[in-house]
Amino acid sequence: MSRIDPTSLRQAFGSYMTGVTVVTALSGQGEPVGFTANSFTSVSLDPPLLLVCPGKFLSSYPAFIAARRFAISILAEGQDDISTVFASSRGDRFAQVAHRHDPWGVPLIEDALCHFSCKTSSVHEAGDHSILIGEVEDYALRAGNGLGYVGGRYFSLGLEREALQTTHTRLICGAVIEIAGQVLLESTPTGWRPPQITCSGRGQSRTVLTTHLETLGMSVQLGPVYSAFDERDRHSAYILGSADAAPPTDRFSCFAPDALPTLKYSTQPIADMMTRYAREAQTRDFTFYLGDAVSGDQHNLMERT
Ligand SMILES: Cc1cc2nc3c(=O)[nH]c(=O)nc-3n(C[C@H](O)[C@H](O)[C@H](O)COP(=O)(O)O)c2cc1C
Repeated sequence: MSRIDPTSLRQAFGSYMTGVTVVTALSGQGEPVGFTANSFTSVSLDPPLLLVCPGKFLSSYPAFIAARRFAISILAEGQDDISTVFASSRGDRFAQVAHRHDPWGVPLIEDALCHFSCKTSSVHEAGDHSILIGEVEDYALRAGNGLGYVGGRYFSLGLEREALQTTHTRLICGAVIEIAGQVLLESTPTGWRPPQITCSGRGQSRTVLTTHLETLGMSVQLGPVYSAFDERDRHSAYILGSADAAPPTDRFSCFAPDALPTLKYSTQPIADMMTRYAREAQTRDFTFYLGDAVSGDQHNLMERT
């Protein structure tokens, strides 16, 4: 019997940063099938080969194994909703997502960063998945940033860069830190706020924030950016994080997510952010907010269970 615990192995595999693709094909009945995959890998330039690993648990597995052709759409930043549809939606996934067809009638996701149309070259059995190798017969690439995935969460290098860089004179970089299911806040004369520091905005903000938290006596694992917004002369960015223990100072307290909307905060955008955090903590479907203090866009930061 294997000594390897599948849950922790899955976590270890998930630490590898990948892009996100949607793999599509036509079933024997000519119905479109598709699933979200991050197991995509380029294999060979000559001949042009790529691979993806469909799981035997997929409802579309028999269709993919039998298909003579398939296509890969590499998702662009902002297409996290499409990834979610092709990872979990029960109904007609294609009815929910804009798509067109390649010259062989296989669906391609509209506005994806890149499309590959492939002829199935070989299928290899590999445990609870198979390795599907395709020979690229057509492809198209557009400029832009891809959607990223690590540790069960989406990220976007483009959006992260935008969130953490600014032409404003002041960048406030803070962390919304969970400790045993509670959120760490710092008391200030004007109200509560997440621990934060002022940085130069020239790219070292994560390091500066980590060092600041270390000087408070905390070892924090930082995740994706949770919220970034401009207010007058300053740009604020708050990153999700987790830690084992609160700093040994009575300036800091931990609050259950339910209590967050009832507190007085140092600024209104922080109050809005913490109220959103309390709401999203109920389902742990966190979103990333990028905008100004009043309005902006939200992007999924799905937590995979
Ligand atoms: C980011 C991400 C990557 C995934 N990668 C794969 C993969 O490489 N292979 C796979 O079989 N399933 C993968 N999945 C899971 C499938 O997308 C999911 O189980 C599938 O859509 C379920 O389809 P079904 O309801 O038709 O069975 C991934 C899910 C996500 C969110």
